[in-house]
Amino acid sequence: MDALIQQTAETLVGARSVVALTGAGISIESGIPPFRGPGGLWEKMDPMAVAHIDAFRRDPEKVWTLLLHGMQALLTTARPNDGHLGLARLEQWGYLRSVITQNVDGLHQAAGSRAVIEFHGTFAWQRCMDCGHRCETARVDLTKIPPRCPCGGIYRPDCVFFGEMIPPQHLVRSQQLVDGCDVLLVVGTSATVQPAAMMPLLAKENGAQVIEINPEPTPLTGRISNYLIQGGSGAVLNDILAGVAKLRAPS
Ligand code: APR
Repeated sequence: MDALIQQTAETLVGARSVVALTGAGISIESGIPPFRGPGGLWEKMDPMAVAHIDAFRRDPEKVWTLLLHGMQALLTTARPNDGHLGLARLEQWGYLRSVITQNVDGLHQAAGSRAVIEFHGTFAWQRCMDCGHRCETARVDLTKIPPRCPCGGIYRPDCVFFGEMIPPQHLVRSQQLVDGCDVLLVVGTSATVQPAAMMPLLAKENGAQVIEINPEPTPLTGRISNYLIQGGSGAVLNDILAGVAKLRAPS
């Protein structure tokens, strides 16, 4: 077994409090495109035109049309992959305290993770811009764009758009978890968007080990992270789980 995989398995089994920070990369193997890099949504669309709250307010119909195009896989076929399932299993075995995800796809919960902070909200719910009524996306008629609340107001995804604040309760809870962890797994994020990208720095400052899982280096690599396990999150987490299973098996 790869030395870093074995080292990570031993670290997880011996840790006091492990937290995972995940990004779009963990969902790529579920068919959901990332935002940056090869095949990234922001390579095809201007994020300020499709993911900024001012753009949504200016032309909700246009933004909804672009969103539906970009979110097709998420809305139809996306299922949890080995990366999501691996983190859920670590939680079930008692080796993972919580997932802080930047993703809005709900795949961590679908995989069985119970402690999940959706740092950028969720596409699984819609909120009326007029009366604030929340409704599950699955129960909203998306054939009519923009979708409307029974009150006539326009529904918006319960996600955090660019230009909006992270819900304070998510920010505070995430900082508490990161301040108190001794291991932060950073899985499938380019670590470029604040304030999520600040979490690894906070963890490092409190003396935690920061372990990246990503096919590519990121701005954290070699500066904040203790090391990078270079590979896809599904296969890497499968290997880590196998290592943890060996260590926890009765000797
Ligand atoms: N497994 C793990 N990571 C992968 C894989 C894979 N199979 N394939 C690619 N990656 C990595 C890429 O190398 C990259 O570092 O996933 C990362 C995806 O980066 P982004 O697309 O920037 O996604 P993310 O970091 O989640 O973006 C943060 O930006 O636009 C906003 O709100 C959006 O939440 C998002 C935020």
